[in-house]
Amino acid sequence: MLGCRVFSRVGAHIPAMQRPARDLEGFIAKGSPEERLLVQIDFARLPRHVAIIMDGNGRWANTRNLPRAAGHRAGIQAVRDVVETSARLGLSVLTLYAFSVENWKRPRREVDTLMGLLREYLRKELMTLQRNNIAFNVIGRVEELSAAIRRELTEGMEATRGNSGLLFNIALSYGGRAEIVDACNRILHDRLHDSGAPAAPVDEALFARYLYTAGQPDPDLLIRTSGELRISNFLLWQIAYAEIWVTDTLWPDFRKREFLQAIVDYQKRERRYGRLVGTEPEAVGVSSDKVTA
Ligand code: FPP
Repeated sequence: MLGCRVFSRVGAHIPAMQRPARDLEGFIAKGSPEERLLVQIDFARLPRHVAIIMDGNGRWANTRNLPRAAGHRAGIQAVRDVVETSARLGLSVLTLYAFSVENWKRPRREVDTLMGLLREYLRKELMTLQRNNIAFNVIGRVEELSAAIRRELTEGMEATRGNSGLLFNIALSYGGRAEIVDACNRILHDRLHDSGAPAAPVDEALFARYLYTAGQPDPDLLIRTSGELRISNFLLWQIAYAEIWVTDTLWPDFRKREFLQAIVDYQKRERRYGRLVGTEPEAVGVSSDKVTA
């Protein structure tokens, strides 16, 4: 069975420093709108972790009188584009919300389609992940997935484990509340089975080490497609200070141009973490780990 601990070891490889952008030549056409966005990006201030709520596949299909499955299939091209762009830009972590704990309530046929597409993606894209030095990882209640899918996910993670570039998390059978509950239960379990010194109180740093994303930086930028203004139970703990960027574009139409635009816009935001403009992180009487919005 796959377990969170396995995933958190992948996260622990994240280097403290931003990797330099690489390989953009040939990937972005000269004189294109993408290039005009690219020159606006400050590579010293890239978001380390970008998380994306991919939404609108069903509506994309509806507007074309196609079955919902066609929308999900079309969404794969957007996944490819965003993963490769993230790797070439030099982002540290990309997390895509592919299947939520709530998505199990969708019709069986749609669930099967999504799982089938995931397997197809893994089989077809493994070479691209390797070529781009991408480490593939899964976060969520993976034990709820079928044994066959778990096997393929494990193979994908094992095959890319040594890659030192982008860490690509796919959130599967994922729920932010479920993740927090799982973390609590794992802390309780560890404390029950640890008969050593009296346990120290749980603090934020310790709690984060029990999340599926242990060892990874929190998302700096959260993107949502299809215009909905919701978080949908995604990375509830981790997005505490993320900048949120929403586009009306439906996920199957999302491409690097909008991705680059999101990064340009992100870099124009002022991130205060509850502080006043121009003050140092540790203002009088406020400890840096107790920031407020
Ligand atoms: C939301 O659209 C999208 C999903 C529930 C799944 C996204 C999955 C993919 C793009 C394919 C597989 C992913 C990977 C990473 C290989 P929706 O169906 O809720 O759209 P709607 O709100 O318009 O109905």
